[in-house]
Amino acid sequence: MSSKFPDHFLWGGAVAANQVEGAYQTDGKGLSTSDLQPQGIFGAVTPRVDGDSGIKDVAIDFYHRYPQDIALFAEMGFKCLRTSIAWTRIFPQGDEETPNEAGLAFYDRLFDEMARYGIQPLITLSHYEMPYGLAKKYGGWGNRKTIGFFERYARTVFERYKHKVKHWLTFNEINMSLHAPFTGVGLPEGSSKSEIYQAIHHQLVASAKAVKACHEIVPEGKIGNMLLGGILYPLSCRPEDLLETQRQNRDWLFFGDVQARGGYPAYMKRYFRENGIQVEITAEDQQALRETIDFISFSYYMSGCVTTDEAQNETARANILNMVPNPHLASSEWGWQIDPIGLRYLLNVLYDRYQKPLFIVENGLGAKDRIEADGSINDDYRINYLNDHLVQVAEAIDDGVEVMGYTSWGPIDLVSASKAEMSKRYGFIYVDRDDKGKGSLERRRKKSFYWYRDVIQSNGNSLKDQG
Ligand code: BG6
Repeated sequence: MSSKFPDHFLWGGAVAANQVEGAYQTDGKGLSTSDLQPQGIFGAVTPRVDGDSGIKDVAIDFYHRYPQDIALFAEMGFKCLRTSIAWTRIFPQGDEETPNEAGLAFYDRLFDEMARYGIQPLITLSHYEMPYGLAKKYGGWGNRKTIGFFERYARTVFERYKHKVKHWLTFNEINMSLHAPFTGVGLPEGSSKSEIYQAIHHQLVASAKAVKACHEIVPEGKIGNMLLGGILYPLSCRPEDLLETQRQNRDWLFFGDVQARGGYPAYMKRYFRENGIQVEITAEDQQALRETIDFISFSYYMSGCVTTDEAQNETARANILNMVPNPHLASSEWGWQIDPIGLRYLLNVLYDRYQKPLFIVENGLGAKDRIEADGSINDDYRINYLNDHLVQVAEAIDDGVEVMGYTSWGPIDLVSASKAEMSKRYGFIYVDRDDKGKGSLERRRKKSFYWYRDVIQSNGNSLKDQG
């Protein structure tokens, strides 16, 4: 197909500090909430004991091996790499007055390495982790004080990296707090809806304050939000199903509405009232929220369905977001329903709603890979998945949607967030490590590595209408 992707389209990949770096106590790093979740983002909070080792402690050792990994990304032609800063490398407990220089120096080295190859960093301030010190001592985002600690952290990294990083994101999948409160806002299991929404409110205010700080400190930079793009369809055309779908889509669009429009949408008043949710929102908070993001970023892996039919809902409990399966779609080995057209639809929905540029900062297929006798890894399933999604991105661009870039999730195999396993692989680059942490950590190019290199080189021209 002929390219519909604009010149300067930001092709690349996305990773997160706690899923790749390892070195969880190196150079003064403090413990993060992620370090206390060895079973993944939905797992129990587990106190650390000496000698205890979760798979994330080493992850893929990106902390030490990043020069080799960046060179491989450059070989594929990456224009952009999304990663996050581990807040605990900069402020180990979260409430210090001054930052940890060794942590700051690590990201200087990392960004300098990217610059050598002309790879632009896209940096998430908080990707599913916060200092555990803040969760323990202050009750995480439940406490207003955390807004100030986050603002100090954000201002510190904007000042330090303002000449190196021009694209920023505030909180990864900010809507995920509704499903995983400890991961999202540092609140314990069993927190009430009022407590969760209060913590979310504090995080939304902190996000807006970071946007303001970025605009002041990095005036030529751009800062976006990051949503879990979990688009839902009605299972049937019954009006009740349609209405319920709208309601459930608003559960996550609410976050984008606040961040892109600068205030709470009207429909939340009724939702809070009918669910007995009390949230303290001060006049000062409302003022802070007026500082809106420059672009919308989101992850997209799957779509799901909604119905008011209770019997059908029962079957959906196994799915991480409790979505009812779509009978017209196939699923990945992990039960995530594959829906490339859904990505085009979602891009149009978000663009219609916000009229701001969009950035797809996660998309990909988690699958088990097999190394053949000759050492090759023929991951055609991954190529097909990505090809078909990118074809739909091109269609959306043709629809008139402004898309800044595409960073596929996990360009190098990493520890999965939901299950903390290595065997759910997303990469173009294979990493020799298994779920028990065994392996040499050696890197190996998969078939998809060459495929993605060609896609980038041709600015999307090499994509096939049907993968
Ligand atoms: C997104 C997260 O939810 O999905 C990533 O931002 C995560 O951190 C990705 O890794 C894929 O999920 P999983 O569970 O397959 O790693």
